[in-house]
Amino acid sequence: VLLAGLEIFTQSGWAMLSRWGHFLAGITWIGLLYYFNFVQTPAFVEFDAGPRTEAFRKLVPRALWWFRWAAMFTVLTGILILGFQEQFDGDYMKSPSGISIFTGVLFGLIMFANVWLVIWPNQKIVIANAEATAAGRDPLPNAAAAARKGACASRTNTLFSIPLLFFMGFTSHLAPLYNTVEGGKRATYWLIVLVITIAIEAIALSAPAVGKPQAWHIDKHRNTIIAGVVYWAILIALFEILF
Ligand code: HEM
Repeated sequence: VLLAGLEIFTQSGWAMLSRWGHFLAGITWIGLLYYFNFVQTPAFVEFDAGPRTEAFRKLVPRALWWFRWAAMFTVLTGILILGFQEQFDGDYMKSPSGISIFTGVLFGLIMFANVWLVIWPNQKIVIANAEATAAGRDPLPNAAAAARKGACASRTNTLFSIPLLFFMGFTSHLAPLYNTVEGGKRATYWLIVLVITIAIEAIALSAPAVGKPQAWHIDKHRNTIIAGVVYWAILIALFEILF
C-alpha cells in the first residue's frame, strides 16, 4: 500500500525505470561496439602473434559476454518502454514520433540479429582458433573467414548505430513538431528506408573472401563513420521533405 503511493510505481514510473535500464544497457552495448571497431581491431593488427592469441583467449570472451547480453537487455528494455508508454495504441505508428522510433527500432533489431547470429558465432570460431593455437594444435582453417564475416557485421552495426541513436532521442524531443503524416508519404519513406537498409545489411552478410577488397563503407572505420553520418543526413532530409 505504501509503495503503491509512490510515483515511481505508476505506469510512467515503470516507463522511466525501463528507460533507465535501456540507457545503461545501450551505452554498454554501443560502447563496446565502438571499442571493438575503433580501438581493439586496429590495435590487434599491431600485436605480435603470441600476445594476440592471449588476448583472444582472456580479453575478447569477456568483452563479448558483456556485448551480447547488453544487446539483449537493450532490446528487452526498449520493448518495455514501448509497452509501458502504450505506444502500440492508436495511430502512433503513423505519427512522426512513431515513424522516428520505428526507424530506430528497425536498426536496433538488425543490429541485434547481427550480434547474436553473425558476430558471436564467428567470434566463437576465432576464440576456438586461439585456444587451439595456444594448446599447440593446428589452427582452424575457417578462422580468417570467420573473423572477416564478424568484422563486416560489426562495422555495419557501427554505421547503423549513428542514425539509430539520433532517432532514439528525436522521437520525444523534436519529431512531435513535424506534421501529421499522409499514408502515401509514409509509404515513400518506408520504401526508401527499407531499400537502403536492406542493401547495407546484404553487403555485410555477403562478406568477401579474405584478401578480396571490402565495400568502401566497411573497409575502414573512418569510412564507416562517414557513411553513418551520410545515412543520417538522408533520413533527416526525408523527414524534412515528406513530413
Ligand atoms: C531494438 C532495439 C531498441 C528498441 C526496441 C528501442 C526502443 C526505444 C524506445 C521505445 C524509446 C523511447 C522513445 C520515446 O518515446 O522517447 C527509446 C529511447 C532511447 N533509446 Fe532505444 N531502443 C532500441 C535500441 C537502442 C540502442 C541500441 C540504443 C543505444 C544506446 C538506444 C538508446 C536510446 C536512447 C538514448 C533513448 C532516448 C530516450 C529519451 O530521449 O527519453 N536504444 N528506445
